[in-house]
Amino acid sequence: MRRTPIIAGNWKMHTTAESCLELCRAVRERVEDVEGVEKVVCPPFPFLIMAAEHLKGGSLKVGAQNMHWEEKGAYTGEVSTPMLRGIVDFVIIGHSERRAYFCETDETVNKKVRAALAAGLRPILCVGETEREREEVRTDEVLIRQTREALKDVELPLGFAIAYEPVWAIGTGKAASGATANEAIGLIRSQVAGPFGEEKGQSLRVLYGGSVTAENIAEFISEPEIDGALVGGACLKADSFASIIEQSARISASK
Ligand code: PGA
Repeated sequence: MRRTPIIAGNWKMHTTAESCLELCRAVRERVEDVEGVEKVVCPPFPFLIMAAEHLKGGSLKVGAQNMHWEEKGAYTGEVSTPMLRGIVDFVIIGHSERRAYFCETDETVNKKVRAALAAGLRPILCVGETEREREEVRTDEVLIRQTREALKDVELPLGFAIAYEPVWAIGTGKAASGATANEAIGLIRSQVAGPFGEEKGQSLRVLYGGSVTAENIAEFISEPEIDGALVGGACLKADSFASIIEQSARISASK
């Protein structure tokens, strides 16, 4: 099945109002006309409206980096799906930094996935093993658990997006090899095809994330199971992010 790749930039806690706009403008200028790839920028919460306004009507989509599962209530500092709806299309859920530093669990990740889908947002669900888990040969076990738990009681749409992000590769400059990522992603796909059926499994987009750069994107995108990338550091420079998008479009067109 032909799957449209997704290249999403996770800006994390970077940029100011001014540099956010500048980066949106520069990326848009470079890749507005690139077809065959879904292109997403995920700036910090305070800049989402501004980014969405700036990119309105164009081909670049906006995503949030997190959300709360309740629609409203006494949850100081949190942001709900009704607040995001109409501003963003995508939302990153369960990023390993949120799991590690903000106590997110498989259970809260599952609540978020369900709430996002119910609100008509498109989740990018993150899964991935730590260095320790890989050393202990527990990668498969972790990926199976994280995928299954996150998708429990979920009505999975076609083309759902998961990002495989090995924690040891994030922000370290030590990207996984294309072959390693391809193998892990094949496992993730099988964990979706099992309970949800072959069609959902085959339509699932699984991105690779972890030290993706303009220099190594080709290695990932060429792999049969890899349907895009979740990019951290390299998305903060318009040139490298645009190059990642351009290469992905070119390579996936010939896949
Ligand atoms: P990185 O981050 O590209 O800087 O490794 C990826 C991510 O955390 O999504």
